[in-house]
Amino acid sequence: MSTTSTDIVILAAGKGTRMQSALPKVLHPLAGRPLLEHVLTSADSIANGNKIIVTGHGADQVEQAVAQCGAVFVQQTEQLGTAHAVQMALPHLRSEANVLILYGDVPLISPETISNILGAVDKNHIALLTISLDDPTGYGRIIRNGAGEIESIVEQKDASAEQLDIKEINTGVLALGAEQLHAWLPQINNNNAQGEYYLTDLIAIARSNGFHINSIHPSSSHEIEGVNNRQQLSRLERAYQLAQAEALMLSGTTLADPKRFDQRGTITAGTDNSIDVNCVFEGDVVLGSGVSIGPNCHISDSTIGDGVEIKANSVIESAIVGNGAIVGPFARLRPGTKLGNNTKVGNFVETKKALVGDGSKINHLSYVGDATLGQGVNIGAGTITCNYDGVNKHTTDIGNDAFIGSNSTLIAPVSVGDKGFVAAGTSVSKDVPEDSLAVGRAKQRNISGWKRPTKKDD
Ligand code: UD1
Ligand code: MG
Repeated sequence: MSTTSTDIVILAAGKGTRMQSALPKVLHPLAGRPLLEHVLTSADSIANGNKIIVTGHGADQVEQAVAQCGAVFVQQTEQLGTAHAVQMALPHLRSEANVLILYGDVPLISPETISNILGAVDKNHIALLTISLDDPTGYGRIIRNGAGEIESIVEQKDASAEQLDIKEINTGVLALGAEQLHAWLPQINNNNAQGEYYLTDLIAIARSNGFHINSIHPSSSHEIEGVNNRQQLSRLERAYQLAQAEALMLSGTTLADPKRFDQRGTITAGTDNSIDVNCVFEGDVVLGSGVSIGPNCHISDSTIGDGVEIKANSVIESAIVGNGAIVGPFARLRPGTKLGNNTKVGNFVETKKALVGDGSKINHLSYVGDATLGQGVNIGAGTITCNYDGVNKHTTDIGNDAFIGSNSTLIAPVSVGDKGFVAAGTSVSKDVPEDSLAVGRAKQRNISGWKRPTKKDD
């Protein structure tokens, strides 16, 4: 195992004109995270790695967005080419390190590929990531000699008709010793079709210094695809989502349609779960086993217990759902909701900071916020906890086996004791002791022989 240190230079100064966006290109999200963050995550797989990010367009915004990543930022105020961009990073390179060049807009480069590249650098080899494409248009072409050895890279705009037929392309990712980079970068000029300092010229310089080029290939072309416009972004998003869907299926979850599945974060799942179409998962989601999730659900930063059934169109955010619970359809569990085992939260119910004891039910059309419910509580349709007095939030406490009749309002702060019973239509503004009935509604009177009004002539 080599102990060589690695300096990773990530190029992220480009404008991204074709994104047609005020947001710097490398901050556009893929699976909910900025493109640049994906590159940083792969870079973090390298032991002894230092990261240097070259920013330019939208530098402040980019630096702010990934401030926590532990990288050094250097600014390239004028974008004069990829070699010029790397030059900005030179003062930060450790002399003994190997240097890996990555692009901030090529998000899916994998840790395995990075490790293969670094493994191919030594005292007289530099490593270059190449791939053969059916349509190589736009990329630099790899020029090999009669013995099959890489001699140079020619950019599309500088290539001859014959060179344009070459299918093997430069992905842009390469690695070499810092010492060589220091020696060779200043030799690069901008005498080319674009008047830019091409990093790709390093290859011919390396050869003329007696170095050889080891070519490494990615396991999938998605690893080297860059994002230049929103069409390419969406293609990479789908490729990434499909890979995640496949991993989830292989670990024991049935997906109704892996093409209609979106994971923007992590899912830790048991087995025998099933997920219907068009569900979106965000942040860190933990699913037990035997969980069934209906279509069109949105689940973020939540833990779902074993055997839970989440019916169609439910939204669950920063909540914990106990084993055997049934949620939805059309339920909304907001942050701080904790449902006990075998609970039921039905259609058009909203909960927030609600602790719901085992076996309790809120089946229809209710708002339960800043509330603690014991076990076996039944909340009738249309019950509202009035937790906000216009200035402050207050809590509602409901004891075990209490029954709250339909269309009741619980005006917090208020409590209902164990086995307390609230008659339908009551406004509860005083605590209800245990085993008591609260009735707080106007008495009904019936008027016999009453006549309906008749329509007046205009
Ligand atoms: C580059 C390669 C080409 C390769 C292709 C792969 C060169 C000269 N050419 O071409 O061989 O096939 O990538 O996608 O290197 N950047 C800066 N500062 C600059 C210029 C670029 O930070 O001054 C950044 C860009 O933001 C981008 C990356 O470097 O992330 C590549 O630059 P780009 O202009 O896209 O290079 P290509 O012409 O695509
Ligand atoms: Mg490019």
